[in-house]
Amino acid sequence: MRKNIVAGNWKMNKTLQEGLALAEELNGALKGVTPNCDVVIGTPFIHLASVAAAIDTNKIGVAAQNCADKESGAYTGEISASMVKSTGANYVILGHSERRAYYGETAETLKTKVELALKNELTPIFCIGEVLAEREAEKHFDVVKSQIVDSLFELSAEDFGKIVLAYEPVWAIGTGKTASAAQAQEMHAFIRQTLAAQYGQEVADNCSILYGGSCNAGNAKELFSNPDVDGGLIGGASLKVADFKAIIDAF
Ligand code: 13P
Repeated sequence: MRKNIVAGNWKMNKTLQEGLALAEELNGALKGVTPNCDVVIGTPFIHLASVAAAIDTNKIGVAAQNCADKESGAYTGEISASMVKSTGANYVILGHSERRAYYGETAETLKTKVELALKNELTPIFCIGEVLAEREAEKHFDVVKSQIVDSLFELSAEDFGKIVLAYEPVWAIGTGKTASAAQAQEMHAFIRQTLAAQYGQEVADNCSILYGGSCNAGNAKELFSNPDVDGGLIGGASLKVADFKAIIDAF
């Protein structure tokens, strides 16, 4: 059966020293504790190796926030999936709305990134979600379905089974405007139906679908109590251990 996961996305926050201190503090907070979910932290690239070396990787997974759509070579400034893997990281967040919006990531480049991540034994946390105008025009289901179909549905069922999805309505990210528990459940159930139609019920039932967008210690329990919400992708609230730990404890 699918796993519950609480994953932090630090985005472009924390110097190396601050990030290492945050990771060590989280490690301390989880010492002697067995969380009822998998815990992942998504750090900037340059923190990955130090963070992976400093924490209990049996308890905390480490994620990059992106990887290149090329294997290697003359791509100045890019970081490949194999480089990410070599740091000790085991996840990669792909298709975050900030990368789609500000860095022009397309369904096609994301498809390649997912393939390279899987080839390098990284678990993609693949983000999908509509902007406010799309929800207001009642196109949110179509938008999310296309994001999934266009980047993921050429994968074999076996490979698809290695993917984690994160539904992040763009209007809820960093705005303090969380989707209601009912809105989250409605979309997550729709996503699971979409997966079942393509890959069958078993693959759909085994896929962890996280919610992201102003998820915090105050609303995590209600969001996670939905049958199709298998955890969260947490931005702002992952930057303070007390808040992040409270979200982990929501399970
Ligand atoms: P916030 O939790 O800050 O709204 O960010 C959500 C997010 O984008 C996680 O990837």
